[in-house]
Amino acid sequence: MTTHETRGMWSSREPPPQPMRKLSDKFQSIGDVWRNSESSGSMYTRHSTYSMTPKQTGTQPKSSYMSSRTAPHPTSTHHIRKRTEAKRYVIEDFRSAFERKGMELDTTRKLGRGKYSKVYKAVDRSNNRLIAVKAIDILELTSDVKNKFLPREISCWRKLKHPFLVGLHAQYEAQNMIFLTMDYGSQGDLLRYVQQHGGINESRAGLFMSQLIRGLQYMHSRRIAHRDIKLENIILFDSCVKLSDFGFVRQVENQTLSHTFCGSKSYSAPELLRGVGYNPFLSDVWSLGVVGFVMVTNRMPFDEKKPNNVIVELQRKRQYVIPSNVYLSGNCISSFESMMTFEAEQRPTSTDCLELPWITPHIQMMNRRSG
Ligand SMILES: Nc1ncnc2c1ncn2[C@@H]1O[C@H](COP(=O)(O)OP(=O)(O)O)[C@@H](O)[C@H]1O
Ligand SMILES: [Mg+2]
Repeated sequence: MTTHETRGMWSSREPPPQPMRKLSDKFQSIGDVWRNSESSGSMYTRHSTYSMTPKQTGTQPKSSYMSSRTAPHPTSTHHIRKRTEAKRYVIEDFRSAFERKGMELDTTRKLGRGKYSKVYKAVDRSNNRLIAVKAIDILELTSDVKNKFLPREISCWRKLKHPFLVGLHAQYEAQNMIFLTMDYGSQGDLLRYVQQHGGINESRAGLFMSQLIRGLQYMHSRRIAHRDIKLENIILFDSCVKLSDFGFVRQVENQTLSHTFCGSKSYSAPELLRGVGYNPFLSDVWSLGVVGFVMVTNRMPFDEKKPNNVIVELQRKRQYVIPSNVYLSGNCISSFESMMTFEAEQRPTSTDCLELPWITPHIQMMNRRSG
């Protein structure tokens, strides 16, 4: 069983991105120029291949990046030719450059990988802290990602500082690479955790949800929407979870609707699947509701292999299955169901979510602890 992530169908109706800032903290000793070549054609959509037989109680959560290892990159032949011609980077080549910056890069094992990046562990010698390094090969990016989404990721991420958001430390540019250093999550991503350990008990999942809602509420209060909330973009630290991967963030003025379809289909709100303009803050709330569902059930609520209109009907009728061996309280169910309210205007905002019965006790506890 595999799943494909849908991250495509970008429309051009959003405002043009700011040009990529030259990176201030470059590796001086190795070439540091952007290659301005366009890397590919622009739009693509990857359709899901979640399999679900009628007998199954749901679709097991699967990593979208797993499929990207096996599936061919769905893009233009021009791009495919370019990719094979271009020399793929070897992370080992950057080890000494990192050393000169006071960081020891661990190239033996990747912490994870996404569609456009690989993430490594490193030690920051200035304080002996572990950090994570997101390595992005610019030659592998579509022009949309290179010119629009990556600049947004970096500029918005810099502004976000919150205990439940993975913090960006620095950015470096070398040859055709961008490196982003960030907080290191020792327990990996939440998808891997659920795959390895099964569903998370309701109480612990409620704590995680309240942390994520706090992080999201902070982003939204700065008018920044995440737009790609899913288990593999949530990182587990020793004592909390943090929202990560700001690759599809967007700063939105009041009342502005988004028209760019992004994120993963199985986490997408109905208004996105219907292809109408959507309020990205409320669709973030839907996606986080799906995260809550997956955490406690170890199942995806909707089979992303189905056509969009079919999924939308399932969403409207709340036709998802909670496995019979999973006991959930009414407070838990009503809370994720509320986040997955079909009509976006009736859905709670991220601030309203703090009042949900599954969430409030954890928020009160957090507030008491912080004094
Ligand atoms: N700070 C981190 N600590 C530990 N692992 C991480 C961290 N950031 C990312 N990862 C791992 O790397 C994967 C890809 O990172 P992500 O930022 O989501 O990249 P992409 O934008 O390419 O999806 C994550 O799903 C996770 O497994
Ligand atoms: Mg990711």
